[in-house]
Amino acid sequence: MMQREFAGEASVTKAVIPAAGWGTRFFPITKAQPKEMVPVVDRPVVQYVVEEAVASGCDDILIITGRNKRAIEDHFDISAELNEHLRNSGDLKLLAESERLSSLANIHFIRQKEQRGLGDAVLCARQHVGDEPFAVLLGDVICVPMPGERPCTGQLIDVFRRYGAPVIGVETVPDHKISDYGIIDGTLIEDRVYQILDIVEKPLLSETPSNVGAMGRYVLTQEIFEILGRTKPGKKGEVQLTDALRKYPEMYGFMPKNTRYDIGDIPGWVVSNLQLLMQDERYRNLIMKVFSPSNIIS
Ligand code: UTP
Repeated sequence: MMQREFAGEASVTKAVIPAAGWGTRFFPITKAQPKEMVPVVDRPVVQYVVEEAVASGCDDILIITGRNKRAIEDHFDISAELNEHLRNSGDLKLLAESERLSSLANIHFIRQKEQRGLGDAVLCARQHVGDEPFAVLLGDVICVPMPGERPCTGQLIDVFRRYGAPVIGVETVPDHKISDYGIIDGTLIEDRVYQILDIVEKPLLSETPSNVGAMGRYVLTQEIFEILGRTKPGKKGEVQLTDALRKYPEMYGFMPKNTRYDIGDIPGWVVSNLQLLMQDERYRNLIMKVFSPSNIIS
């Protein structure tokens, strides 16, 4: 198969983070600021995503942005005035954190001129990525690995290196969510690994090939760009990444050992905050107190 050349190869070092979407489900929060900058516990969503890419071995990161997304660039830039202020006021802990943030990785930005869909956003990475395999991490999804496990993208990269073909991160999808996901038709070939025969964007529950769907992390190869270039707009009039993926001659699905938090809409964001606050020893007691029966007025 054409991708076999990648099997066993040195790690994937490039990551692409699409973050150019409208974020209409977050309106009015997203009228003047990006959805990817909404805070979850103590950081904007996109910082979790960049940190996952870096911890997975990707030191070259391309964030796909658009109009109203300047805050993402500023977030990872050096803030000379702030650093000067922190130095002068002796807040060395915060200074170190500010410096860490601006030197996390080589972060590049490119604008998707029109929001023509996730597939079109990935296509914007063509020139930057060149002919190397690369990871794609959706900018509104947080993945927290199970204790002792590699970050989600790192787990996918390990599978990519074993099989030498593109890998899609997948998870079990409840019935009422099937029509929100790209759903795979595949065969389980080893623990957590599926050989994918097909993938369908947002199928009806009555027509779905399975209950296993894409969860926002991918490791892809350069062939996707040529395929995306000839992929016509599909569901919602957008160029769907799923429609391009199904044309890969060989690909795998992998169910990572992690918990995924979907920050794509307000309920997902609220629940993610609560769940992550409960896992954070700084805030757990506070949350328990707020939700203790004596504080809940029914
Ligand atoms: P979504 O499907 O959540 O779309 O995108 P959206 O436009 O951001 O949000 P809604 O539906 O209007 O509320 C999934 C990921 O793909 C990116 C988004 O920024 C998000 O990280 N995306 C989507 C793009 O980069 N470009 C697009 O044209 C569409």
